[in-house]
Amino acid sequence: MISVKGDILKVKTTYETSPNIALVKYWGKFDEEYILPLNSSTGITLSTEDLQTRTTITLTNKYKEIKFLLNGQPHPVSGRLKKILKFFEEKTLAALGEELVPLQEGDNQETKRKNLKEFLNGDLSQLKLKIKSVNSFPTASGLASSASGLAALSVCLFDVYHMKEEYDFQRSVIARLGSGSASRSIYGGLVEWTGVPHQFLQRKFETKNNEVQLSEQEYEQLSKLCIAKQTHNETFFEDLDVFVVAYSFESKEVPSTSGMLQSTQTSELLKYRALNTAHVHIAGVKKAIEQKDYNELARLVRLDSNQFHAVCLDTTPPIFYLNDFSKNMINFIHQLDSALEYHVAYTFDAGPHAVLLVHKNHTPQVLRAIYEAFSIADTDSLNSRAQQTLKQAMEQEL
Ligand code: DP6
Repeated sequence: MISVKGDILKVKTTYETSPNIALVKYWGKFDEEYILPLNSSTGITLSTEDLQTRTTITLTNKYKEIKFLLNGQPHPVSGRLKKILKFFEEKTLAALGEELVPLQEGDNQETKRKNLKEFLNGDLSQLKLKIKSVNSFPTASGLASSASGLAALSVCLFDVYHMKEEYDFQRSVIARLGSGSASRSIYGGLVEWTGVPHQFLQRKFETKNNEVQLSEQEYEQLSKLCIAKQTHNETFFEDLDVFVVAYSFESKEVPSTSGMLQSTQTSELLKYRALNTAHVHIAGVKKAIEQKDYNELARLVRLDSNQFHAVCLDTTPPIFYLNDFSKNMINFIHQLDSALEYHVAYTFDAGPHAVLLVHKNHTPQVLRAIYEAFSIADTDSLNSRAQQTLKQAMEQEL
């Protein structure tokens, strides 16, 4: 939406995203600055209202500096947000120059570009951003709030400047700079984020302290390569329900960024995983989805989650994201196998919450069993779709 009142210009855009839950986990960076992943990962972007970030960006000459509001509270523009905005301004805007001048609705591009430039006396730096981001779920609790927030931000940045489609890959680059998994949240369905090629991994792992020196050209090459792409749209999952069973909404102890740095520096298993297993798991997950082989999908998703947590345990000092609740859930899901035609997939990120992929035929039965076994006092720990399904299942039984 574009409006001009007197001397004040406003270009406004809003985008909603949800976390992308990895089915094959990203854990470890090849490069901390550019956020290039050691291994490829793939995940599902959830499409549920209670796990959503809504971000609105206004580009205006009304303010003298950038404003940022998170969940209604003013926040300083620091850390990753600052990094993203700096990169966007210095690299993206500077490189694309003219292309990024905001256009006004219903007008021919050339006229508006000219008008706007004239309006601002040719000085685009007069435009400042106001960023409003609201999470419908707890921030920094292991539910990938940063991923959805930063993905929404990067999409808005591109919309507000009316970027051309050919620069689409840059959205992924920008989101990645904020949080690796955010690059997957830009798209719906199953999204794959490419890791650095093996020859680079080998170079890194062969050097002392894993500190490899690359040329600027090589960094540019890797930066363009390590982007996220949708591999399967939402219709591939129409037989599946994805549920979150949250343990608690307290902030997690070891943030994923520092956790994966510790693992990269100390875990041999992480190197093995990056070189040998992650890509095999991804190929298997994609094949299982295409063939609607839900038992194979569950086998691989469980295996990958468990291997990721094994890497955490192989880290010095060890990192424990799974707690007793998570371990009981894992055991419980395996025990359910014999009763079900399609097995339930479980996966755990850098926190104790379980994410379950359940075949729709079995959702009421599985939710009911979890409700009873875990004596969930209220259903707040389930996302709203799970709550509704559980309620219906219980009403039907009465
Ligand atoms: C376990 O994307 O939060 O959820 O890039 O340092 O911000 P940074 O890490 P982040 O890590 C996510 C790790 C994970 C697995 C995954 O989502 O792939």
